[in-house]
Amino acid sequence: MYAGTTDAQPRRPVTVSRLHKMKQDGEKIASLTAYDYSLAAAVDEAGADVILVGDSLGMVMQGRETTLPVTMDEMIYHTRCAAAGRRYSLLMVDMPFMSYATIETALHNAARLMQEGGAHMVKLEGTADQAETVSRLSRAGVPVCAHIGLQPQLVHKLGGYKVQGKSDAAADVMLNDAKVLEAAGADVMLVECVPATLGERLAQELSIPVIGIGAGPGCDGQILVVQDILGITPGKRPKFSRDFMQGQTSIQAALRAYVEAVKSAAFPTEEHAF
Ligand code: KIV
Repeated sequence: MYAGTTDAQPRRPVTVSRLHKMKQDGEKIASLTAYDYSLAAAVDEAGADVILVGDSLGMVMQGRETTLPVTMDEMIYHTRCAAAGRRYSLLMVDMPFMSYATIETALHNAARLMQEGGAHMVKLEGTADQAETVSRLSRAGVPVCAHIGLQPQLVHKLGGYKVQGKSDAAADVMLNDAKVLEAAGADVMLVECVPATLGERLAQELSIPVIGIGAGPGCDGQILVVQDILGITPGKRPKFSRDFMQGQTSIQAALRAYVEAVKSAAFPTEEHAF
């Protein structure tokens, strides 16, 4: 049986309102990346609520050093592939570097991801500075996930992939950014690499679901890069991830173990938090 279903209640496609209801009901949101047809189908079958076609595909699929070289055409190509595999999961797709630098480009590119790729929701990195873009997308009918905390597209400005919001002042600024983005129309907040206390505070103070990656167990949901949980990422696995292949004999079992661990709040633990 899929996670989140009962015998009486067959699985239904996940919508934005369903994600909001899950937050209200205290049901954890299990999310994973997938960039192609077969893995998207496997992740969907395992019961993930959200599949993210992340611009991390630049690093994971293309072997680049950062996400910056990923183009709109590449995002559309991978979105189409993943869309062909998903049945029930909501398909969230990253807007790549500079594809939302102005409101006009954001509207144009979000429309391409939805119309040509099949995205259900777009994700963009930003602070309160992106509020106007989020608002315009939202008013145009585009579901939006705002990505705060560590923003990988800013890697050269940040000088590396570092935990964000560590001081009280930085945490307060991030919380304010999140509230501004929520008020602008963001439907979901994704927060990456922040102290667990801040992840929990964000989830408590926002009405929209907060999905964390390296943001501790207090978030409303979790997301990880699928290659990391299958133990096939070259090099060192991030501290906030776990190899779910351990103790499993198939990829499908590992994907299900991840979904179940998120749903039951068995993952993440202190060991995966900052
Ligand atoms: O691109 C991506 O995979 C992401 C994750 C860090 C959530 O944005």
